[in-house]
Amino acid sequence: MDGRDLVRSVNVVGSGRAALGLRTVRAAWRRRRIDAAGLPRRGPERARVPGQVLGAEPGPGGGLIRFSRSELRIVVAVNGAVFWGWDGAGAQPSYALAGSGPEPDPRAVLEPDKEGGWRVVAGRVTVVVSRHGAVQVCTPGGVVLRRDLPPRWWEPVGGGPARWMQRSEVPADARFFGLGGRASGPRLRDGAYRLWNTDPGRAFGPGNDPLYLTMPVQLVVADAGTHLVFHDTAWDGTVVLWEGEEGAGSGHDRAGRCEVRMDGGPLRCWVMVGTPARVLHTWASLTGAPALPPAWALGHHHARWGFGGEEGVRRIVAGYQERGLPLDAVHLDIDHYDDHQVFTVDQERFPKLPVLAEDLRRDGIRLVSIVDPAVRAQPGDAVYESGAAVDAFVRDGQGRTVRGVVWAGESVFPDFTDARVRAWWGGLYEERLEQGFAGFWHDMNEPTSFSAFGEPTLPRSARHVLEGRGGDHREAHNVYALCMAQAACEGLRELAPRERPFVFSRSGWAGLQRYGGSWSGDVATGWPGLRASLSLVLGLGLCGVPYSGPDVGGFDGSPSPELYLRWLQLGAYLPLFRTHAGLRAGRREPWEFGAEVLEHARVALLERRRLLPYFVTLSHLARRTGAPYVRPLWWGAPEDRALRDCEDAFLLGDSLLVAPVLDPGADRRAVQLPRGRWYDTVTEKAHEGPAQVLVDAPLSRIPVFARAGAVLPVRGAEGGLELEVWAPAAGRAGGGLVVPDAGDGWEEPEVERYAARLQGERVVVTREREGGVVEPPYPVRVRGLG
Ligand code: GLC
Repeated sequence: MDGRDLVRSVNVVGSGRAALGLRTVRAAWRRRRIDAAGLPRRGPERARVPGQVLGAEPGPGGGLIRFSRSELRIVVAVNGAVFWGWDGAGAQPSYALAGSGPEPDPRAVLEPDKEGGWRVVAGRVTVVVSRHGAVQVCTPGGVVLRRDLPPRWWEPVGGGPARWMQRSEVPADARFFGLGGRASGPRLRDGAYRLWNTDPGRAFGPGNDPLYLTMPVQLVVADAGTHLVFHDTAWDGTVVLWEGEEGAGSGHDRAGRCEVRMDGGPLRCWVMVGTPARVLHTWASLTGAPALPPAWALGHHHARWGFGGEEGVRRIVAGYQERGLPLDAVHLDIDHYDDHQVFTVDQERFPKLPVLAEDLRRDGIRLVSIVDPAVRAQPGDAVYESGAAVDAFVRDGQGRTVRGVVWAGESVFPDFTDARVRAWWGGLYEERLEQGFAGFWHDMNEPTSFSAFGEPTLPRSARHVLEGRGGDHREAHNVYALCMAQAACEGLRELAPRERPFVFSRSGWAGLQRYGGSWSGDVATGWPGLRASLSLVLGLGLCGVPYSGPDVGGFDGSPSPELYLRWLQLGAYLPLFRTHAGLRAGRREPWEFGAEVLEHARVALLERRRLLPYFVTLSHLARRTGAPYVRPLWWGAPEDRALRDCEDAFLLGDSLLVAPVLDPGADRRAVQLPRGRWYDTVTEKAHEGPAQVLVDAPLSRIPVFARAGAVLPVRGAEGGLELEVWAPAAGRAGGGLVVPDAGDGWEEPEVERYAARLQGERVVVTREREGGVVEPPYPVRVRGLG
């Protein structure tokens, strides 16, 4: 955030808050002073590489390979993931792993390799280690997926954490994805990507990096295979990527390259290989199954910074209802707090919040509350005092509470890396539940503290408990929001044990999906922002966070009617479907853009409601398999290079392909179809893939295709579940999975399997059960028979 943004943010907070500007400047100075005193100067450093191999000892799942200046432990886990750690690093402690991590695979064996090297051979992967410490990940057939060169460390002569660098090579045709939420993806082109969760301080577009949610997770897709690599280190780092190039004719291939540099922390990583589906499944088994949002959270949400009060909320809700527009949740932003203090209510504007919540709930609308981590440092204030009483707030090296400036003014920050503090914080959600809130929107948790210059976060020397190990903000920063989400979920599970918590968070790290989802943050209103918002959702999904979505319409400014509509049409097919905007931004209600937009918006909103059972099914499948709802087109065919480079369309589950309009003025667009028959869901016209087709994309809709043979659950006119079945192509069978909604509790409904086949001119749909084949218990509607 530069000076201009500071002024802007201060203005945004509202008049009479000019003092915030001064405080922000003072806070930035203070932060610098604290770091200067609290962090040792790096001074001279010594470089180190592993050196020559000395020997190896087998161990569970692999073994230990000794080098003259380091050692490397390799463990293949039962789920097929490979772990390796240098310099004695083990898989634990880790904020990313769910539970204690997987058991070693007893069948993996350590063997001598050629030229003095070693290899670990397992069912799905072979890891070859050279005598200088290069590590190669190969398929069982011996094809190299990734080659890590010997790492390099820089150790301060005077002691302190070593920096390290790991260079790798991947096949020339490989494409990189992931690294958390990136605005310039989903394909990550040549460039440097920083690993430091950051509030860009202004509405962002494709050029802004890093953003709020980074993670050292790369998904690499090549002809030879797909792999995910995770460097399990939360410190500040940078990943530099260079896509490779294949030599034409007699030319040589240039390998793709990747360089990971970290300012500290263990050099350890996990690699998973297989199909994209298998890789994500393994990743979810390692870092935790995605939380299951309640069904209402898969509907349409409307947020607003500046509803103005209870009357404002009721007016907007009535606006939806009068026009027959579906609405499932309303989000209250910081302006509903008493002078912006978290876990309070502005009693003047919201005198009877529980009554409002109850009224809305009767109409099927839930209330969601923003929750920021910063607590206004005001003696006598209940939240502040209760935190101070349990010593909850982050301190500096001298033991003083670290202060920053956020919306509520001068604030302190809970140390979520301390289980005690998480327990205290989790208990605070009781007040929110009493107000009637059903879900929680975590914000400003990178954590952000406004800054006139320098980094808009806590000083790097700020101390954190880090589960008792102790350390500073350099290590805790990137996991701060992850631990905040953990605190909320654990608290909510205690406070309301019968309901699944609904939490989504702006910032996070590997494993966030265990607690909830995310949203794309303050995306800039404009066509580039629209594209960026799809990139974020796809990228996060490939990093294991399947539930996210953008602020429809963008966060700042006023979208043109066309842009708003195209955003809403895209959002209707993304897991989190939310309209939201900043305090000074234009309106985002569908009726604010003229009669034509309203009609088309209604179609998008109704279609989302019709697809709700499909979204519920996808949420259950994400939970059970780790597969994101929104998948790149190459999900089922990673070897198809045309699909690998296609960034403007996506698969929604197995059955649908969505081709949003991302450019102004377009009324037609090209769509790259994967293999098989695809029906335009509006015209029912069949297209045969693989092919690029040009299709109509009038303002009234974006092109959506259904896979031939797909059986998908939809909401019928009466509200009950129906099966929409798309005719299989001749000679081909089809089918689909359905997981019915079992309410907001913990019940795990059964996965229902359906098959569809052609019998003459007829499509026959059956439910496959263990005892045999039965009639589907729902009405069936066949489409695409022509
Ligand atoms: C941040 C959030 C945004 C929210 C605003 C006020 O900018 O990203 O969604 O509306 O803060 O709380």
